[in-house]
Amino acid sequence: MRAGWLGDLFRRAGRSLHGMDERAGEVAILDVTAVVAGGEGLARDADGRVTFVAGALPGEQVRVAIRQRKKDFARATVLEVLRPSVERVGEACRFVAEGCGGCDWQHVAPGAQRRLKAEVVADALRRQAHLEIEVGLGPELPADGYRTTVRGVSVDGRFGFRTRKTHDAVAVGPCLVAHPVLHEVIAEGSFPAGDIVLRAGARTSERLAIVAGQGTGVVVPEGVRVVSDHELRHGRRAWYHEEAAGRRWRVSARSFFQARPDGADALVDAVRNAVGAEPRGHLVDLYGGVGLFAGSVEGFEHVTLVEQSRSSVADAKVNLADRSPRIIQADVAHWGTARADVVVADPPRTGLGPPGVRAVTNTQADRVVLVSCDPAALGRDAKLLGTAGYRLHEATLIDLFPHTSHVEVVSRFDRG
Ligand SMILES: C[S@@+](CC[C@H](N)C(=O)[O-])C[C@H]1O[C@@H](n2cnc3c(N)ncnc32)[C@H](O)[C@@H]1O
Repeated sequence: MRAGWLGDLFRRAGRSLHGMDERAGEVAILDVTAVVAGGEGLARDADGRVTFVAGALPGEQVRVAIRQRKKDFARATVLEVLRPSVERVGEACRFVAEGCGGCDWQHVAPGAQRRLKAEVVADALRRQAHLEIEVGLGPELPADGYRTTVRGVSVDGRFGFRTRKTHDAVAVGPCLVAHPVLHEVIAEGSFPAGDIVLRAGARTSERLAIVAGQGTGVVVPEGVRVVSDHELRHGRRAWYHEEAAGRRWRVSARSFFQARPDGADALVDAVRNAVGAEPRGHLVDLYGGVGLFAGSVEGFEHVTLVEQSRSSVADAKVNLADRSPRIIQADVAHWGTARADVVVADPPRTGLGPPGVRAVTNTQADRVVLVSCDPAALGRDAKLLGTAGYRLHEATLIDLFPHTSHVEVVSRFDRG
C-alpha cells in the first residue's frame, strides 16, 4: 500500500521517491508499536532511538522517509506500508490524496479511533504524571458531516484547506467532516485572498462567513451573513445561534464554541456527571467561553464565569441572562479568586499550566473538573494538580473530532 499523497508531493517537487531512497540515511523500515499525542505512530530504529511516524498505526511495518533528526528522536513519514494494521482503511475523502491537511486520521477505521485516542491519553498520563488510569469512552458521535466551524483559505477564490506541512492550500468541496449546513457555502462561495472562517448553527441553520481584509467581492448563497476582519476590528458585531444542552447560544464571530452541538451535549453530560448531583454553594467556570458549562450545570447557589475574550463575555451575558451568574472578563492567571466548591476549567490547547493550576487551587475547591483538548497538556496539568493535592479519579474521552487525532477529555480530580 503506497502513501499516494506523499508520492504526489515529491513528484510536484520534481523529486522521485526512488531518488529519495538513494539519499543515505533518509529511508528506513520500522515496526510501529503505539500511537502518541499528535496522532503519530511510535517506532524505534536499530539503535533504539524513538522515531515518530506520521500516518502509521500500531502493529504496522512501514518504510519511511526520515524528515527530521534530533539527538534523542527522529520524525518520519510513511512511504509504504509493508504490513498494514487491520485498523487501516483507505481514505474516505479524495482531498486527502491532494494533500488537504484537514483530517490526519482518515487512514484509521472509525471504530478504532476512539480506542486509540484513549490509549494516547492514558499514555500521556502515565508518562507525565505517573498515573495509571483506564480512560473511559464517551458516546460514539457520527464520524462525518459534523464540524460547524471550518477554518480555511481562499484558493483562486474557492474555499480550501491548508495542506499538511506546506504553505500550499487545496480547494475542497464537498468536505467529509464539514456539517451539511456548510456544504453549499463551501461549494458555491467565492472569497477574496486570505483566511476564511465558516461557522454555522447545525440546529438553527444560521450561517456566518468571516473573511479577510475588507471583505469586498464575496459571493455566498442567500442567507449567509458575511463579516470581514476589517469590520470586526472596527467594532461591527456579527453572530449566529446554536442549540445545545437544551439551550440556545449566541456565538459571535470571534467567540469560541464547541465544534459540534452533539459534541457540546456529550461534553455537558460528562461534565455534569463529574461535578455530581448533590446541591452545593459555588461553581466557578474558568475559561467559560459563551457560558456552555455555567449555563448547563445545575445545583449551585452561585455561579462565577471567568473568560478573557471580550466577545465571548458579551455573548455569555446574553446567554446566561436568566441565571444571573457573576461574569468576570479576565485572564484566569490574574483573576482575583474566590472560595468555590467545584471548579470546571476548560483551557485552550496549552492547558492550565502553573498559572491556571494556581488559579484553580486558590479557590480551595474540593472538586475540579478539567476539560482538556491536548493529551500532553492534560498529563502536565494532572501532575501539577497532583502536587497541589488533587487526585485524579476518572477521565473520559469525548471524541468530538473523528478522522483527526484531536482529543477531548473530561477528568475529575478531588482534593485530599
Ligand atoms: C476551549 S475554550 C472553552 C470555552 C467554553 N468552556 C466552552 O466549552 O464553550 C477556551 C476558552 O478560554 C478562553 N481563554 C483562553 N485563554 C484564557 C485565559 N488566559 N484566561 C481566560 N480565558 C481564556 C478562550 O477565549 C476560550 O473562550
